[in-house]
Amino acid sequence: MARIDFQLFDPLLSEAQAEAMLRLCERHGSYGTYAEEAIENDFAGDLAQRYDAALNFVQTGGRFGRKDSIAKLAARTNYFRETYAYDEPLVPGIEPFLDHEGFRDAARRLYGREIVRPNIVYANLLVPGQELAIHTDVPEFRGVNRRQDPQWLIVAMHHSRLFERWRIPIATGVAWFGNPEGGEFAFYPEGPFGAPVAHRVRHNTAILLDTDSVFHGVDRVAESRVPIPDLKPGMKLVWDGGDRWSLVNGDEVLARYAFADLRFSVSWKAYCFADAAEERMVREHRDDLSRARVLEVLEGDLRRRGRLQDSAPDEKQLALTIIREYIQYPPPAPAAQAGARATA
Ligand SMILES: [Fe+2]
Repeated sequence: MARIDFQLFDPLLSEAQAEAMLRLCERHGSYGTYAEEAIENDFAGDLAQRYDAALNFVQTGGRFGRKDSIAKLAARTNYFRETYAYDEPLVPGIEPFLDHEGFRDAARRLYGREIVRPNIVYANLLVPGQELAIHTDVPEFRGVNRRQDPQWLIVAMHHSRLFERWRIPIATGVAWFGNPEGGEFAFYPEGPFGAPVAHRVRHNTAILLDTDSVFHGVDRVAESRVPIPDLKPGMKLVWDGGDRWSLVNGDEVLARYAFADLRFSVSWKAYCFADAAEERMVREHRDDLSRARVLEVLEGDLRRRGRLQDSAPDEKQLALTIIREYIQYPPPAPAAQAGARATA
């Protein structure tokens, strides 16, 4: 597979603007766990939204093939997220980041598409001992999106390459503020079977790439001082003033951290359109896919590949076959090998 483009930024913002991002993170004050988006799944509804990534993480033990209990693995990946912008700034002060010209330029070059529309900015906070399982992000297709369709299905659609005509390319910038110990941004620029790169996270730097295609994750944040508590949905990470943060469950404080212990990243996502006519077509829904059509195409392809013998598979059987066939995760590597290639 050809090398996939990515662009690094160092520095991303002016020193004052980068400091302001740290202050904005504090001011926002409270971060909930990245709970699953509350949509009713009307197809194979008992599968988790990212069943694909969760299954891979539990089966392999992550990038380094570490063995942990399922509860521990769940705690490790149950990180904290809040949205800073959604079509417009939701948090005062996010504008320089949302409108970053360097991100826009890099996004234009990534896909060779002229119109770049930043639409979402969100913050991720990881506490010591947390990591983010390897995955590709949920892409978007005309007529199929995460607000109405299962995320694993949309991810599989992209990896199948059968729906490229309907894809809306999204560029993702990931920026880091602060200098955490560990928590490298791990990615596979040469495809899932190529060598991974463990990119060291440094204050006021960033990367822009196609995270819908390139497998990526976050290596474990150093757990030297505070061991990872039993993290569950509903818990919050809150700023206590100064350099102090706490992990709370209602009134109960489970752990205390210095800001320097946390890994803080901010993601930027933008739709990339070839031209005004294409953007209009997307907005007017003039050439949308339907989920029924998607399932018909995938089922037909699976039959041709000899992966489906059953004449009428049930939804769950079809879903699991789709995930298994199309989403090829990078195999885990021994720790020594996986960390071998690092960017500067
Ligand atoms: Fe991601």
